[in-house]
Amino acid sequence: MTHATKEFIYGLPKAELHLHLEGTLEPDLKLKLAQKNNIEIAAKTIEDVEATYKFNDLTSFLAVYYPGMEVLRTQEDFYDLAMAYFRKVKEHNVRYVEVFFDPQAHTARGVSFETLFEGYYKATQDAKELGIEAHLIMCFLRDLSEESAFEHYEMAQPFKDRILGIGLDSDERDNPPLKFQRVFKKAKDDGFKITMHCDIDQIGSIQNIRDALHVIGVDRIDHGTNIVEDPELVAYVIEKGIGLTSCPVSNGFVTDDMKGEELKALLHQGVKITVNSDDPAYFQSYVSDDLYAVAQKVSLTETDIVTLVKNAFEIAWTSDENKGKYLQEVDAYLAQQ
Ligand code: HPA
Ligand code: ZN
Repeated sequence: MTHATKEFIYGLPKAELHLHLEGTLEPDLKLKLAQKNNIEIAAKTIEDVEATYKFNDLTSFLAVYYPGMEVLRTQEDFYDLAMAYFRKVKEHNVRYVEVFFDPQAHTARGVSFETLFEGYYKATQDAKELGIEAHLIMCFLRDLSEESAFEHYEMAQPFKDRILGIGLDSDERDNPPLKFQRVFKKAKDDGFKITMHCDIDQIGSIQNIRDALHVIGVDRIDHGTNIVEDPELVAYVIEKGIGLTSCPVSNGFVTDDMKGEELKALLHQGVKITVNSDDPAYFQSYVSDDLYAVAQKVSLTETDIVTLVKNAFEIAWTSDENKGKYLQEVDAYLAQQ
């Protein structure tokens, strides 16, 4: 089969499952919010902001990423941030998203859980008018304590019916899945879906993936492509239908490679792997750009692209009926080509 064109990829109905709302803060919105909220930031122009986006690993990325959130203060700020992302991905024909948010990054600055949550939630509701179904996944910051994770889990309780699942992000080094075993057990017992970042080429990557799967009992893994090194774990995720949310352009920023060959190998072995943008404002790449970039890099065919896109709907945390509706949209798009 032929190679996919950019137009073909942009037009495909898509789902995005690995997207940090805080990672969608584009330089222009950052400057606007800084001005509105009277926050003195060093950058004065879009070029100044972009010049700070220099990273060579996850730690140096996160060192720019978290301080950058200081401009977010009011409910409208969180709403505007999320709406800007939804408007942007409408251009990519994104139809369904499950997006991460990091409450601890904001409560630490004196923003209440309610403020950030209501802003984000209202945006997910208004996204429907753009033709996008959006859901929220609350993440714990793994470099903070288990106690803080529990405190935020409690803060989330009044909003629990509007939270689809619980995730884990930030710096994996010295912060393995088992550090949060108890809070994830509670979340799972309470009926939440569970996912976790298993970042690329971390010390102990395979052990962390194994623990996430066998001890925590995750429903999905974010990144996690190091699994390709362990055939038993690959067989396990295939058997259980546990999906991986890969982010090729992000990988290229925080490691020396997009990990496209790993993605391709997993895809061809039958793993439900997907392509996502992670932090599109920081990596200047939205979901179609990620798909196109990795397709170019490792020669993915149109069939491969369609499988990646269908996988995302298949591993979404929604009903089979809803998945079927979106998968039919993909088939209708293919029939028109
Ligand atoms: N890994 C860990 N934490 C993150 C990431 C990521 O890719 N993006 C935003 N927070
Ligand atoms: Zn991520």
